[in-house]
Amino acid sequence: MFMSWVQMLLFVSLLFPTSVQSEIRHYSFTVVLKNTTRLCATKPIVTVNGKFPGPTLYAREDDNVLVNVTNLIKDNVTIHWHGVKQLRTGWSDGPAYITQCPIQPGRSYLYNFTLTGQRGTLLWHAHISWLRSTMHGAIVILPKKGVPYPFPKPDKQKVIVLGEWWKSDAEAVINEALQTGLAPNVSDGHTINGHTGPVPNCSYGGAYNLHVENGKTYLLRVINAALNDELFFKIAGHDLTVVEVDAAYTKPFKTDTLFLGPGQTTTALLTTDRGIGKYVIAISPFMDTVVSVDTFTGTGYLIYNNTLPSIPTTMTTMPPVNATWKTLVFAESLRSLNSKQYPANVPLTVDHSLLFTIGVGIDPCATCSNGSRAVAAINNITFDMPTIAILEAHYYGIKGVFTDDFPGKPLMPYDYTGVQPTNLQTMHGTRVYRLAYNSTVELVIQGNSMLAPESHPTHLHGFNFFAVGRGLGNFNPAKDPKKYNLVDPVERNTISVPTAGWTAIRFRADNPGVWFFHCHLEVHTTWGLKMAFLVENGKGPDESVVPPPRDLPQC
Ligand code: C2O
Repeated sequence: MFMSWVQMLLFVSLLFPTSVQSEIRHYSFTVVLKNTTRLCATKPIVTVNGKFPGPTLYAREDDNVLVNVTNLIKDNVTIHWHGVKQLRTGWSDGPAYITQCPIQPGRSYLYNFTLTGQRGTLLWHAHISWLRSTMHGAIVILPKKGVPYPFPKPDKQKVIVLGEWWKSDAEAVINEALQTGLAPNVSDGHTINGHTGPVPNCSYGGAYNLHVENGKTYLLRVINAALNDELFFKIAGHDLTVVEVDAAYTKPFKTDTLFLGPGQTTTALLTTDRGIGKYVIAISPFMDTVVSVDTFTGTGYLIYNNTLPSIPTTMTTMPPVNATWKTLVFAESLRSLNSKQYPANVPLTVDHSLLFTIGVGIDPCATCSNGSRAVAAINNITFDMPTIAILEAHYYGIKGVFTDDFPGKPLMPYDYTGVQPTNLQTMHGTRVYRLAYNSTVELVIQGNSMLAPESHPTHLHGFNFFAVGRGLGNFNPAKDPKKYNLVDPVERNTISVPTAGWTAIRFRADNPGVWFFHCHLEVHTTWGLKMAFLVENGKGPDESVVPPPRDLPQC
């Protein structure tokens, strides 16, 4: 008996239930000023849809996400989907003047991207000036329908967004710093889902309360959306099992403390097995150098149902602010899951072997307070922002916007972590580093001691990378690569480069476009610790940047 085409199709679709289950997710983000009484008097803050933190974007792996952003404030805005790979869709990546001109007041722009090969927790945030201090929120990428987590199924999920708060307007803080040439004021508090908990000399809007049921497993999606502070996160009386970072699964490991730099995410399982009680949730900063930091611990509470107010709260001790060892142990414990289903595809050969030194310097400035101003640089080049987007200049072949001579190695090698050099001045430029499609890159990010050595959470747009090695002091090209982990190194988009130390990452340049690379401490981004990789198109449309959308903002 022969089947008709229709019967055949029906038959085949019964045998192979459709694997295309991806959906289109529509979101509408309106940028508005909103009064808040959360901390120290009522003041307007910049928000998305009037919320702080902003709305959580939920989707599944492979979904197409459409976010229409309308700007109703007086400043230019952009939004970056931090950690979303944006395969060929750089126009939707978001960093102002790198991939797009900002959305001007009164205008809208539709971000359009697909979540390919990623699952877990990420964040979105404004990517212009310091607006991300209050304009940020979570991205939750659930596994495809019918695909289980590679860990025990949690009973419930909670998003926990950590932030940093200034009593005054964060835009005023950075503008003043740029005028004086000095470091900006440190923040006045740390927030957990928008609440600080008690802060001295402040009236406040309460603490974050996480109400839980006994005997359950919670999946906590923790996001560090702070501007300038790397943070420790702890829940009194409870261990956490880390299962994923930066939307890539890890080998599960148990810890009492999480450590996250700005831009990093950690998803962990929490078992509620204490029966009853109120337990402090605390976040505190890490800073193991002379740079000043907001040392105030932000607090919230984990509260078991049926806990009477008379039951005393269980406190916790946070690691000291300079607990370097704690950060190193945490980093060492992170390994890619590297299972059959989720292999760690570490590039084993390297086409481009790069060494970037990163740090802070001092440039002359006649109008500044001390006749000088703080700057930051990669390979001693302070990045000057262009006035139109580099991706546009690249796509349309517009000359004079950038040069492609970013040095792959320091121009003048010196003892990077040794005695401070006498000349702290940097060069300036808008330079990119050019990569052929699908070439492989090893990048050693070397912290330097130019002004003060400091831990730098460094972020690459457009890719995940593997953190294959790290160490203290100067990277040794003869010895250190022998100790690389090329089997199950952690895969992420933001990595801490230890104070006066180095981190080696590897990635494959399989995403054409222009991809920002910068320290995710916003103060260092502002000062110029940034550059971009330009990845050329490969063959045909599937390996090329998609054409720009018609509503792409103009400068
Ligand atoms: Cu989360 Cu370029 O940033």
